[in-house]
Amino acid sequence: MVAKHVINFEPVDIEMEVDEDEVILDAAFRQGIHLMHGCREGQCSACKSYVLDGEIQMDRYSTFACNDAEADEGYVLLCRSHAYSDCTIELLNFDEDELLGGIPIQDVMTRIAAIEPMTRDIVSLRLAATEPATYDFKPGQYADLTIPGTDESRSFSMATTQSTPGQVEFLIKKYPGGRFSALLDGDLSVGDEIKMTGPYGSFTLKEGHVLPVVCIGGGAGMAPILSLLRHLNETESTRPVRFYYGARTADDLFYVEQIMALGQGLRDFEFVVCLSETMPEDPSAYPFAAEAGNVTDVVARREEALNKAEVYLCGPPPMVDAAMEFLEVHGVPQDQVFHDSFTSPVTGD
Ligand SMILES: Cc1cc2nc3c(=O)[nH]c(=O)nc-3n(C[C@H](O)[C@H](O)[C@H](O)COP(=O)(O)OP(=O)(O)OC[C@H]3O[C@@H](n4cnc5c(N)ncnc54)[C@H](O)[C@@H]3O)c2cc1C
Ligand code: FES
Repeated sequence: MVAKHVINFEPVDIEMEVDEDEVILDAAFRQGIHLMHGCREGQCSACKSYVLDGEIQMDRYSTFACNDAEADEGYVLLCRSHAYSDCTIELLNFDEDELLGGIPIQDVMTRIAAIEPMTRDIVSLRLAATEPATYDFKPGQYADLTIPGTDESRSFSMATTQSTPGQVEFLIKKYPGGRFSALLDGDLSVGDEIKMTGPYGSFTLKEGHVLPVVCIGGGAGMAPILSLLRHLNETESTRPVRFYYGARTADDLFYVEQIMALGQGLRDFEFVVCLSETMPEDPSAYPFAAEAGNVTDVVARREEALNKAEVYLCGPPPMVDAAMEFLEVHGVPQDQVFHDSFTSPVTGD
């Protein structure tokens, strides 16, 4: 029989049980406790916490998420941590509303409703929930999709909202040889079944917050931002919203009309496209602002009061890492920054 231990979380004074063979983050989900998390793969540091007392050992993780000096001091990644005694753990980041009020994790069987190319390497995948027929999540969250025929999964952010409860859209970048994404090149078809588990993630709009929203995304990082924009539009939010989207060339843009239409329903919205490789000859012909440069340079040029905004940052890990550094240098308080780095289990160190 697997040994069990008791974990006490400070400063929230919540207690739970954990089996030695499960990681603490999963044990918390199982018991309805939603701790702060991002990748759930030991790569992003969102779940980093401090062990006040007890014996914990971690599975393999990235030293970018928790360096050796931090690990020696007692910091752990809860998505990688197994308890070998009763423990007291200090949570460094937590959202009081989410902790005991998060949406329960659901296992949902789905069928592919549509697969549609958006650009040369981004595909829209629409899934229809079949068993159960609905799927509950918050805008900005993600789900794990099982790679058909295996028990491995990959994480993908929902681009839609609860306005279509049984239909979920994902925007997926295709990698040559990618265990999941390459299947979208003809191996998966409309009607095929895919198991979906979720929702996960803390990239959500916080109830009652009023600060301007600055969204920064690149590539498939469009997905959760689209979900946030759709939600802001559907709820007739009055918050000022800026969306900076990084792409290489104008050919990599997609959903531009939808984004502009969503923006029209907001009181103060601007869509700024940041093109890192080639600028079109006449950028003024576009209905949005187009600027040359990578997304962090453009944000630096245009945003004077980032420290008075909430920043939602999402996309490929190098872009997210560069933007996180940039936001720190510009004095944006950590609790005003929400990010999802699209790490892959294969590329982590
Ligand atoms: C919280 C979260 C949300 C995510 N949301 C999305 C999303 O909405 N859309 C989306 O497209 N992806 C998203 N991802 C990434 C996704 O989960 C997969 O990691 C990605 O699709 C690659 O999976 P794969 O099975 O196709 O490739 P794998 O078989 O895992 O990798 C195959 C090869 O592809 C290349 N590769 C894979 N990932 C990367 C990378 N990030 N950078 C550079 N090369 C890489 C590498 O060469 C790797 O060896 C998210 C990840 C996380 C953690
Ligand atoms: S390192 Fe634990 S959730 Fe990302």
